Amino acid sequence: MNPIETNDLTKYYSGGKVQALEGVNLQVGGAQIFSLLGPNGAGKTTLMKILLGVCFPTRGSARILGKEISSHWSHSRVGYLAENHRFPDFLNAWQVLYYYGKMSGVDSVTLKERIPRLLDQVKLENWEKERIKKFSKGMLQRLGIAQALINDPDILFLDEPTDGIDPIGRREVRDLLLTLKNQGKTIFLNSHLLSEVERVSDEVAILKNGRLIQKGRVEEFIAVKDTYEIKIPGAAEDLFPFCQQLNIELHQKNGKYLIEVDDAQHLNHFIDRLREKDMIIQAIIPHKITLEDFFIEVIEEKEGNSN
Ligand SMILES: Nc1ncnc2c1ncn2[C@@H]1O[C@H](COP(=O)(O)OP(=O)(O)OP(=O)(O)O)[C@@H](O)[C@H]1O
Ligand SMILES: [Mg+2]
Repeated sequence: MNPIETNDLTKYYSGGKVQALEGVNLQVGGAQIFSLLGPNGAGKTTLMKILLGVCFPTRGSARILGKEISSHWSHSRVGYLAENHRFPDFLNAWQVLYYYGKMSGVDSVTLKERIPRLLDQVKLENWEKERIKKFSKGMLQRLGIAQALINDPDILFLDEPTDGIDPIGRREVRDLLLTLKNQGKTIFLNSHLLSEVERVSDEVAILKNGRLIQKGRVEEFIAVKDTYEIKIPGAAEDLFPFCQQLNIELHQKNGKYLIEVDDAQHLNHFIDRLREKDMIIQAIIPHKITLEDFFIEVIEEKEGNSN
């Protein structure tokens, strides 16, 4: 059973004038970090809100941990950090967690034990009695993540969790998400920070104009099949005639030499020939693109044919 499944999920707003989601079929496996990507207005927040039971689909259905999203039980097993969330700023950090915990139905004894542990986990242990109006954006986001964990959920929905956080704070959030994944939680992220997503996610899906246009493992998307960067000392231009003889395409890109081969055997043949000529190979590195490159390529490719 996948913790999250949607079937033909469709949502129109404003009496059908705004198409936010169209026929989305999505399966998200457990104990992983899953990121939903897409340009502004693609439907990411809408999808998350439907999964949380905050808004309702126009058509289609979805299941959380095998149960219909309308069930009270499935709501009790999820945690949520909303995009641009606002906590009442007269509360201190401890009170925020206590009130949200109470609203999630967690008993006081459990909360008193859990709150210090969560504040510690998000590195706010010395701030529990401070009013949150003094908190920086990064501290508020970390408190938001602690709030999403207050009912010890199986699935964590985080809408733009690193929005407005500096690089050190982002790294702390990243480490925290990896720890939570290792504890067996499923994390569903919406984010525009593709370098963060690339570092932390196992799988990604891309939405455009409400439609799901890609889904797969990050490493599959960023690996360029049978293309390698080759590093040799000295006159790398010597490689061009050499590669031509062996029927290997050589490109120079951003100061790197990239070879395209048919398969591993072809690559090894190339290495043998280089070594026969006493050329020193410093490194042969599988070539990768960034998730951002992939995202832009996919969005531009689908331009105009996804309405
Ligand atoms: N309550 C609403 N009423 C009417 N239209 C809405 C409502 N909420 C969202 N929309 C519209 O639905 C579409 C999808 O919006 P959504 O907020 O889900 O996108 P998103 O991918 O989360 O965007 P962003 O990256 O900007 O957060 C947009 O066209 C948006 O304007
Ligand atoms: Mg959004």
